[in-house]
Amino acid sequence: MGRILEVPLGSGGQAIPLLGMGTMAHPFFTSEDTKSSILHVIELRYRQFDMAALYRLEQPLSEAIRLGPIRSRDELFLTSKLQCTDAHHDLVLPTLQKTLHHSPTGNGHSSVPFVASEATKLSILHAIELGYRHFDTAAVYQSEKPLGEAIRLGSIKSRYELFITSKLWCTDAHHHLVLPALRQTLQNLQLEYLDLYLIHFPVSSKPGEYVFPFRTEELLPLDIKSVWEAMEECQKLGLTKSIGVSNFSCKKLEKLLAVAKIPPAVNQVEMNPLWQQKKLIEFCKEKGIHITAYSPLGAKGTPWGTNKVMECEVLKEIGDARGKTVAQVCLRWVYEQGVSVLVKSFNKERIKQNLEIFDWTLSQEDLQKIELIPQHRGNPALGVISNEGPYQSLEDLWDGEI
Ligand code: A2P
Repeated sequence: MGRILEVPLGSGGQAIPLLGMGTMAHPFFTSEDTKSSILHVIELRYRQFDMAALYRLEQPLSEAIRLGPIRSRDELFLTSKLQCTDAHHDLVLPTLQKTLHHSPTGNGHSSVPFVASEATKLSILHAIELGYRHFDTAAVYQSEKPLGEAIRLGSIKSRYELFITSKLWCTDAHHHLVLPALRQTLQNLQLEYLDLYLIHFPVSSKPGEYVFPFRTEELLPLDIKSVWEAMEECQKLGLTKSIGVSNFSCKKLEKLLAVAKIPPAVNQVEMNPLWQQKKLIEFCKEKGIHITAYSPLGAKGTPWGTNKVMECEVLKEIGDARGKTVAQVCLRWVYEQGVSVLVKSFNKERIKQNLEIFDWTLSQEDLQKIELIPQHRGNPALGVISNEGPYQSLEDLWDGEI
């Protein structure tokens, strides 16, 4: 099968493939069939897709593109159209922003704000088939239900094969809300227990609906003593095998250790070659706290992420020399630090690629080059900082680890 030819457009933007797929089905509706058809034509190498706000197809198109074998945004030519009701000067820009939010264009924020979707479930099912058994979710991600469904549908023979982590959202980080929040999480997952339950972030917020990004006016200091007591109770009740925290600095861990009867088993933190967390790793090793790394690839494509990791020249050079991708170099590096690593992909090829890091090693020379990469926290969580809130500066929030 030949490649679909493209011609450049006068604007100098992406060249337009000469054959594209129309996605409008009338009456307008979104269905699994639509997504499957789009996935199928992506596999057949269609790269031009035509949609419109009115067709209500931006979401399934977005999901199909994430699931299919598309390597880069540059492969695609996507058209959308302004609906007549929005054809007013002041509505054009907000409408386009809404379209971008739902579609895979530009910033790739299609899973933010968090959405429970069929794509999540299908990706997890695929990962289960490939042998992934450790899954990370959180009350705020809305991925607990699709994860639970995928676990039930997939080829898992026994609960003991799995390691499932979920997290207490800030809204529930109050002594009396911890147990009900965990029970809700277990109900969402349709599981009897978690392997690990984490305090998601070292802050509380006004009880009520889960809000992300944070509303600074609703943030409250985390009363670690009373919240941790409730976490300990969850473990004693057998509803979680272990308890831990996420995004805690050495100083915050010290404070927790001073009041904990059960010490935290895990601290889940951002970690990648551009944010190596040396001090925290040393501290946690000394205290017997396991580290799990999130954003090993810099969480490219999310509002809190950065492209700097995947675009790092040093990592590209190492990858090229070893016949590995930058993602594999990152994952292997994190793995070699003796921590566990969580990588997110909803793309079949990349889900598989990310597993292929166990039968090779980085050389001393590679490690030395990585050691010299300038360090930056990719996600400083600026949204938590406010004059009225519990953290007035990044210094306060990360206790100098920035
Ligand atoms: P996708 O789901 O389309 O694969 P992190 O794990 O650091 O949060 O990064 C997740 C981001 O990295 C997602 O945008 C994911 O996109 C992308 N990603 C995951 N695996 C790979 C890979 N092997 N190569 C390139 N990008 C990847």
